[in-house]
Amino acid sequence: MGWDWHRPLESRWISFTLLTVLAIAVGGLVLLIPPFFLQGTIEAIPGVVPYSALELEGRDLYIREGCNTCHSQQVRPLKAETDRYGTYSRAGESIYDRPFLFGSRRTGPDLARVGGKYPDSWHWYHLQDPRKIEPRSNMPSFAFLLERPLDLGLASRKLAVLRTLGHPYDDAQIENAERDALAQAAEVAARLRADGVELDAVQERSEAVALIAYLQGLGRAMKEAKLASVGGEAGR
Ligand code: HEC
Repeated sequence: MGWDWHRPLESRWISFTLLTVLAIAVGGLVLLIPPFFLQGTIEAIPGVVPYSALELEGRDLYIREGCNTCHSQQVRPLKAETDRYGTYSRAGESIYDRPFLFGSRRTGPDLARVGGKYPDSWHWYHLQDPRKIEPRSNMPSFAFLLERPLDLGLASRKLAVLRTLGHPYDDAQIENAERDALAQAAEVAARLRADGVELDAVQERSEAVALIAYLQGLGRAMKEAKLASVGGEAGR
């Protein structure tokens, strides 16, 4: 006895293949479909807001330069990670990340919570030459970003496209994206100058400024929300 009933099926390879594909498809759909209707599974994190126009430019530069090939943005629920980076990452932290940048490869440290860890000037010098900050660093120099003028030509359209995907930007934010981005860039430049960085007219509106604005926003809301990890460890 045993598997005798299965033998005839195995000898008809076309039917067998089709039935196998059907079985896998049904199993896959049963797993895939429900999450689309279960909004409640995403724990809302207070203070998680859509990226500002300037941060969005910085994020695009982060992707263009492949920063995400060396840096993850995901704290895994393992003690070694939560000790170093704070409580593990929640889905609610990344609701405005399209595409998400969780990553799995870490040549450099995780950056999910790097916002506010260092002053803006630290990032400026680190992008210029990581060896200035950490002599053993193997991160490439991104000095050219300090000299390249930021292109805000698509700023409004980027916000408009994200709104169609559900990011809550209002009309004024879309219309004034370029102006808002320049205003935020001026704030970053002012902080850099206050720290003694000398900036010329190109540098104060450079791609590096947008990238710094983006980096400084990473994980801020999560730090303020002070969520605890399982086991009662306080969010950091
Ligand atoms: C080849 C791999 C590599 C690439 C590409 C890379 N990094 Fe790094 N990064 C590192 C390494 C290694 C470190 C740790 C040493 C150091 O601080 O320089 C680091 C450190 C950092 C830190 C400090 C993190 C902390 O918590 O101390 C920041 C911020 C950072 N990188 C941002 C960036 C940005 C922005 C880009 C893209 C423009 C980038 N990195 C591209 C390897 C990389």
